[in-house]
Amino acid sequence: MRLPSPYMILAVVVGGTPYASAQSDAFSLPPGMHRDLLIQNCIACHSDRLITQTHLTRKAWDEKISWMQETQKMWPLAKDVREKILDYLESVLGIQQTLQTQDPMDGLGPRQTNPLLID
Ligand code: HEC
Repeated sequence: MRLPSPYMILAVVVGGTPYASAQSDAFSLPPGMHRDLLIQNCIACHSDRLITQTHLTRKAWDEKISWMQETQKMWPLAKDVREKILDYLESVLGIQQTLQTQDPMDGLGPRQTNPLLID
């Protein structure tokens, strides 16, 4: 009897997993309101992990964005967009979250994503 080729098996595994379609993206940004604005404005120049490994107060996040605008050629943000981005950063990557929700993998190098789940 001839066994199915490994490629057939791979195709079934990749095509059959419900996660590939249920998970809309692979960014490490925690769920939260206005997460989409971060994806639009904050990951063009560096990895999302650079963001998620950082915990700051709202004021410090605001200064960090200004720093990127002044020194790294980051584009201007409309005031309401900037406020929404800060709302997100303050709620999911604020300084008070450090103890409760900091990812234990932070600082240990990039986590390997399951290669079968990448489109
Ligand atoms: C135009 C390019 C650009 C954009 C857009 C950008 N950044 Fe950055 N950012 C940089 C550069 C360059 C660095 C320095 C990277 C390094 O040190 O390797 C940086 C560093 C950072 C750091 C680490 C800062 C530190 O203290 O070391 C954080 C956090 C960060 N960015 C968050 C953000 C967030 C949040 C946004 C969206 C609001 C954003 N970035 C958008 C260019 C950008």
